[in-house]
Amino acid sequence: MPAALVCRDTGTRYPLDTPIWRSPAVAPVDSVTPAGLLDIDWPVDASTFPREAIAKRPATMWRYREALPIPAGVEVTLGEGMTPLLAVPERVLESVGALGGSSGTIRPGSQMLLKLDSLHPSGSYKDRGVSVMVSQCRRLGLSHVVEDSSGNAGSSFALYCAAAGIACDIYVPEATSPAKLTQVLTSGARLVRVPGDRQATSDAIWEAAQRHYYVSHAWNPFFFHGTKTFAFEVCEQLGWKAPEAVVVPTGNGTLLLGCWIGFEELRRAGVIDRVPKLIAVQAAHCAPLAGATAFSHTVAEGIAIPRPIRREQCLAAVRDTGGRVVTVSEADTVAALRAAIRAGLYIEPTCATALAATAQLRDLSGTIVLAITGHGLKTNDTIAKLLA
Ligand SMILES: Cc1ncc(COP(=O)(O)O)c(C=O)c1O
Repeated sequence: MPAALVCRDTGTRYPLDTPIWRSPAVAPVDSVTPAGLLDIDWPVDASTFPREAIAKRPATMWRYREALPIPAGVEVTLGEGMTPLLAVPERVLESVGALGGSSGTIRPGSQMLLKLDSLHPSGSYKDRGVSVMVSQCRRLGLSHVVEDSSGNAGSSFALYCAAAGIACDIYVPEATSPAKLTQVLTSGARLVRVPGDRQATSDAIWEAAQRHYYVSHAWNPFFFHGTKTFAFEVCEQLGWKAPEAVVVPTGNGTLLLGCWIGFEELRRAGVIDRVPKLIAVQAAHCAPLAGATAFSHTVAEGIAIPRPIRREQCLAAVRDTGGRVVTVSEADTVAALRAAIRAGLYIEPTCATALAATAQLRDLSGTIVLAITGHGLKTNDTIAKLLA
């Protein structure tokens, strides 16, 4: 069957160039009810990953162009992707309590690696999803889009829409970090600050999303087909081998699900024979994937999502890959942040949760990749308050 947008509720298929972000076959309910969610059915085979040709292409995520659902010539790119993969410094592992076993080290032959997606044009991994999403907007000939965000997706959309000459309205919670707001404001996007928590922002945009194309990183499936390049890169950087596990700070699950889609595509194409365990990390203060129903403030602002719209899909990704959901305390997150920065890694508190989680992963062996999703400069004020 040809590639298509597929309604998760009815199975209805739509051509990829249909300007929809949810399925018209299902009546809309509200911002937290997953009615009419779409996925992309993207067929792969052995020709999807021409490894020798890929090796000769520029070091951006568009080197996997056969695997991306965007026709050649409409890409909106700022050079995203091919971020470094490097070992977690030993002293960071030691301070976060990741060293276990009788020898006091991670198991022989095992390694923990950081994928520095913080080193992206806008300063977060969101650029992967946004590059594909804004390319799709260009393909559809759109001139005005809307998005809501805890900050990083919004700042990324604002910059990529500026590059593409597309107007965008970005809705954010009032308490969003100033650096992220500055990125939105100075790029020419319209910033809408919504009083209340992240959920209040999703509710506020719902009405605008009925009138404009909603580039939601949670609803719109094109986003996941950008974040899936994280999996392709990890695999290529490991010599076209899958790691044992990937540890992902998770709110709405756009990187978690991108990893699931990406590694699954590599498996279906015959490049790898098994999908890594996917470990979803949440702040204990906001852990709906762990079944929590009470929520309170967390320093991990990027993953403070009490009601993720794709919760069932996130749980399936964890379950089907033999992974798990790990929750981490505020104190352990701050301790991991301090250890990371003292080892030279200036990262957002949100992604320090991945480092903090490693204390609960000492039973794993082999190669474990931690997603470092956002740059510390995005949250300078918070870091100063927490650590200075
Ligand atoms: C730095 C950072 N890490 C991780 C995430 C989590 O992404 P998601 O909500 O799609 O799971 C976010 C989301 O904003 C983020 O800003």
